[in-house]
This record gives sequence, C-alpha cells and structure tokens, in this order.
Amino acid sequence: MLFVNFKTYEKGSGTDAINLVAMLESVSKDTQIKIVACVQTSDIKEVSLSSALEIWAQHIDPVEFGSHTGSILAEAVYEDGAVGTLLNHSEKRFADYNDLEVAHKRAKEAGLKTLIFAKDLNDLRTVIKFRPDFVSYEPPELVGSKTTSVAISKKEVVKDAVEIANSIGIPLIVGAGIKSSEDVRVSVELGASGVLVASDIVAANNPIKELKDIIEGF
Ligand code: G3P
Repeated sequence: MLFVNFKTYEKGSGTDAINLVAMLESVSKDTQIKIVACVQTSDIKEVSLSSALEIWAQHIDPVEFGSHTGSILAEAVYEDGAVGTLLNHSEKRFADYNDLEVAHKRAKEAGLKTLIFAKDLNDLRTVIKFRPDFVSYEPPELVGSKTTSVAISKKEVVKDAVEIANSIGIPLIVGAGIKSSEDVRVSVELGASGVLVASDIVAANNPIKELKDIIEGF
C-alpha cells in the first residue's frame, strides 16, 4: 500500500494535482497496488470528482462547526470527497496530544479514516492509544532526504515500530526519504504494511518513472 503525500509541491497543486492523481490511478489499476493520494484541502473536491482513487486530506483541525476562522473542518473535507485524513505530520504537528486526540475524534465522527504520524517510538506508543486506522513512523530529520531513507537508516527502529503497532492490530506505514524499490522492499521485509512517499514522486521531473520504481518494491 502506497500513500503519496502531495504536500504543497507545485507539481501537486491545482490542475497538476488532478493530472498526478490520474497517473497514480492508472498505475494502481495496472499493478493492483493500492495507492492513496493525500492532496491539499483546496484540491480535494475536484480531484475526488475526477478519480476513483482513495483521496485523503493532509490535515484537519480539532474543531466543530462554529466560529473557527481558517480551520479545516472534518465534515467539510468528508463532504468534498475525502475518505481519510493524515494527522500530526511532522510539518503540521498538533500543539499537544490533547489537540491530536480531539482532531482524531472529530475525524472519526465525520466518517474519515485516519493515519497518525509518530516521530519516534515513545511518540508511537502514545498515539496508538487513539486507535487510528494506520500509524506511521516518520523520523522528521529524514523527511525529504535525498541521500538516505528510513528503511536504510532506521532498520531497528522500524522493526520495533512494527512490533508495537501490530501488537494492537494497527498497520504500520513508514515514510521519510523513500525513493527506490529497494527502500520499499526493505520496509516490507521489516514488516511495514506500506510506505508514504512525497518528494520522490510529487517533486520529480519524471513522476511516472519514479512511481513505477517505487511500485516495483512491493
Ligand atoms: O508524508 C510523507 C513525507 O513526509 C515523506 O516525505 O519527501 O521524504 O518522501 P519524503
């Protein structure tokens, strides 16, 4: 299973997001590997209407309907077509675990699937208590790395993370610096249920080539 996080990359925004999702969908169909596209809030509706792929939000806020100017409401992204939401990415961490817990509850109340990020094993032990659908181990210092990946640099931590998450039946997804079929192969061998990729695909000059390389690792 592959999550592609579009972040705010230019090539993952607006019309380019629609084109990128179409490409992901076609490769997913051809290879039968499940791909989830995590797009910007402003693109969710258009992308959802144009694709059968599972579309997720990158974040929602711990708010209900009401006076919360500028916040991202769980019900709003659900209505636009999001199936799930990422929560607590290292580039968008909640102020504290209470905010994360409330946001997670809001996501569930709106009918969204959830993936919560953990930056290390202690963080992971805390966030799995909220019982998300997926949990991800992403060491922040390796996010966007062009030289190494979580799969190569943090093998022992990934193994431990798999054990912790799987012990209560939550699939572990790994991310940070994943950029090759070898990274994916190692992640899966270590017990990960999938990987999260951003820059290698979304910021690539030849995204389809990079995607096919990643997919080969499954
Ligand atoms: O959520 C995935 C992301 O943080 C990993 O980024 O660029 O290292 O694939 P990247």
